[in-house]
Amino acid sequence: MLATVFVRDLLLRDVRILDPHSGRDERGDVLVSGGVIRAAGKGAGHGLAPSDTLEVVDGRGRIVAPGFIDLHAHMREPGEEWKEDITSGLRAAVAGGFVDVCVMPNTKPVNDSRAVTELIVARGRSAALARLHPIAAVTRGLAGNELTDLSELRDAGAIAISDDGRCVHKSRVMRRALQYARTFDVPVIQHAEDHDLTEGAEMHEGAVSTRLGLRGWPREAEDIIVARDCILAEEARSRYHVAHLSTRGAARIVAEAKSRNVAVTAEVTPHHLLLDHESVLGYRTDCKVNPPLRESGDIEALRRALADGTIDAIATDHAPHAPGDKDVEFAEARPGMIGLEICAPLLLKLVRDGAVPLMRLLSALTLGPARVVGLPLPRVHDGARADLVLIDPEARWRVGRDTLQSKSQNTPFLGQELQGAIDRTLVEGRTVYTRKEAL
Ligand code: DOR
Repeated sequence: MLATVFVRDLLLRDVRILDPHSGRDERGDVLVSGGVIRAAGKGAGHGLAPSDTLEVVDGRGRIVAPGFIDLHAHMREPGEEWKEDITSGLRAAVAGGFVDVCVMPNTKPVNDSRAVTELIVARGRSAALARLHPIAAVTRGLAGNELTDLSELRDAGAIAISDDGRCVHKSRVMRRALQYARTFDVPVIQHAEDHDLTEGAEMHEGAVSTRLGLRGWPREAEDIIVARDCILAEEARSRYHVAHLSTRGAARIVAEAKSRNVAVTAEVTPHHLLLDHESVLGYRTDCKVNPPLRESGDIEALRRALADGTIDAIATDHAPHAPGDKDVEFAEARPGMIGLEICAPLLLKLVRDGAVPLMRLLSALTLGPARVVGLPLPRVHDGARADLVLIDPEARWRVGRDTLQSKSQNTPFLGQELQGAIDRTLVEGRTVYTRKEAL
């Protein structure tokens, strides 16, 4: 027999309400009941007291915002569940304030079929944490040659297509993919890497790669593909999205295409906004990532592009790897770092440093990604679905093996103290994470 889950109403009292959709920034209460926001604003909780049916949270000093949306996570299920499975990945997601997570198709087997898409959807539903949205492959086996059956994949629940981890290299294939995707109105998400220019490359090409004697990965490898794809997307009048944009050149190309109303969007990861190639010194495999960490000039350009809206979304590129993938020679190490749980706390530093306004940061974690993949626009508004995050911007905590919900711990931020924590995450009115319980 199915147990009926009783969810108490929730009142967040005296919080700072931040809603990127309306631009609202005010102190007030948020009352959640029956999965929706019943009332938000000054006096919304007036006269209400805690009871068996109402939980009241003192929100002083806290921020409430729409729950976050991640366009780019690797969950490793099916195939490499010892690194992450969908349930552990979604636990990490809600601990990071995410209510929607899009997952990349480079699983084993690759998500290029209805069967795998359906499996991912079913696993996501049964985890009952954040909502999960599969991104299916552009080409069969991510091999770059034969297009997948988008009609079938879309039908099974795919929200977008990408060969992430590999670039759709052939212009003919990318052109067809864009034309085909247009008929289904889904975006094509490109991992922009000219593999001719990155063969054998291990890190960004520059002074550090020379010093370490590692083969360099030039910026042009990304810029060339982004430029080509913008031309193809313009002609095809299709939605084109740049995954993990990392170079100043790619940011410039995207800005130029946007200025001509090409339907191009872009995301940036926290690590490309915060770390540069010097982090790799000491052959630190936890800083090996694809695309590689760039230079301070790129970081400046990425921050500016985020602030001015050239970059639409922040995406984690959460890429769990086992110790055996990282505790090896640099050349052998697998690229990637985890990011779901630390994304927002890490990026609050950019707000404190004045690089990005708080509302803009929240917009890039909510509205921006929703628009890229066509999810309902998140809002903190009377009657809206109660997908919310409660943030304590002052709390200090240390990223530790014991604090991480992910099965993998491959992050260079391990051991670091962060300021800003996710206190609580609500999905459709249900509390799916509280920091108090996690501690
Ligand atoms: O660093 C990365 N790791 N970049 C990618 O594009 C793929 C990802 C992975 O799957 O590990």
